[in-house]
Amino acid sequence: MFIAANWKMNLDKFSISEFCKNLHNYKFSPKVEACIFPSMPYMDYLNNLIKNLPISVGGQNCHYKPDGPFTGEVSPKFLVDNGCEYVIIGHSERRINGNESNNEIKLRAQLAVNSKLKVILCVGENATDREKGHALKFIEKQLLECLPNDFKSLIVAYEPVWSIGTGRIPNAFDINEMHMHIKKIVLNKSNKKIKVLYGGSVNVENINSILKITNVDGVLVGGASLKVKDFLAIYSAAVKHLNSSL
Ligand code: 13P
Repeated sequence: MFIAANWKMNLDKFSISEFCKNLHNYKFSPKVEACIFPSMPYMDYLNNLIKNLPISVGGQNCHYKPDGPFTGEVSPKFLVDNGCEYVIIGHSERRINGNESNNEIKLRAQLAVNSKLKVILCVGENATDREKGHALKFIEKQLLECLPNDFKSLIVAYEPVWSIGTGRIPNAFDINEMHMHIKKIVLNKSNKKIKVLYGGSVNVENINSILKITNVDGVLVGGASLKVKDFLAIYSAAVKHLNSSL
């Protein structure tokens, strides 16, 4: 079970230090993995504050070239250098705001894998594709165009664009169906079993019902991960869920 906290462009140094103060008395479980994705300049700062805790730090993106004239971009090498274990690739906010194409995302994912980062590859349909009944087809194409050619392990995050930051989430049937579909596509293409996280308006109220869905292997949380109380409540729900399903 995996809890990923995507802080996006939120939380400054002071807020991060306040957040971390509240983590030190909490009993983390070896069964639930957690990773926080802070804003790039604070990676090292966060890593230092949580170095004694079983939480890793990840990058919100990385470039498809290891170095060179790419102003504003970050090399996967630099993420590794800063103690990152994971990187998010292809988040819809980067696809939309940064015009990242499927092909570019595939290249970014491949270099991240080659650089020994664990990739969380994001896919998600928009509201029109969901309403028209095209969601499965859309995700299949998007995923096949973004999958790196060569990888040992991979995590896919299913984040419907219409669900991010809106408080609306797909029903349990649709989430399970999509996660199954994603697992099948990757298995057929690469003969690899992968984990699929759900992302989009995950919060303290809906976490229990999301974790009960068979093919959900964890969550990628945005807004609700900014408050330490909610982050820990979501983490605790995952621990409880695992203990109850033993
Ligand atoms: P919210 O949880 O704020 O909807 O964001 C989800 C997300 O985009 C995580 O990557």
